[in-house]
Amino acid sequence: MIKKALVVATAAAVFSTAVVTTANAQDAPTPEQVAAGAADTRQSVFKLLRFYLVPLVGMARGAPFDAELAEKNGRRIAALAPTIPDVFMHDTRDFDVETEALDVIWENKAEFENKAMALMNNANAFADLAATGDRGQTLGAFRALGGSCGDCHDTFRVDND
Ligand code: HEC
Repeated sequence: MIKKALVVATAAAVFSTAVVTTANAQDAPTPEQVAAGAADTRQSVFKLLRFYLVPLVGMARGAPFDAELAEKNGRRIAALAPTIPDVFMHDTRDFDVETEALDVIWENKAEFENKAMALMNNANAFADLAATGDRGQTLGAFRALGGSCGDCHDTFRVDND
């Protein structure tokens, strides 16, 4: 037992030395790398938003109505919406990163945040109606929910749709 513990401890020590050495050798990430990471993170939030929205788009287009899924996805979108301003706290305007984010995001933060809050409110309203199980009313609220994605893209994202 003792011997085994020693081996593990030694391995751990060697491993952590290796990690430290690698970190030293590679230096800290450059500001460009940090900016690219920030762009990556925010794009992941939008991929998640799309993941939750897609089944709702399907229902709005005639796929079988699933009230439980509609409510759940609406709540998930509402929970993610306030993270949008958070993941844009890192201003990447001065860096050559792969992004469709427009500079105006950092010039008009209040408006950007308002659009994120509108998404949250519309997603919650949608989920509240889904919770009643009423297909017609729920789908009636879909336009406002989906519209809040496009409404922000119109002002703050490269026009690609
Ligand atoms: C408050 C503004 C805002 C709202 C609300 C918003 N988006 Fe976006 N979205 C953006 C911006 C800005 C980008 C560009 C991000 C980048 O390229 O760095 C983006 C990018 C995207 C992308 C591309 C991500 C990628 O792979 O690079 C998708 C997909 C997307 N949004 C879907 C959605 C959906 C679905 C919703 C609604 C549920 C939504 N967005 C709501 C601002 C918004």
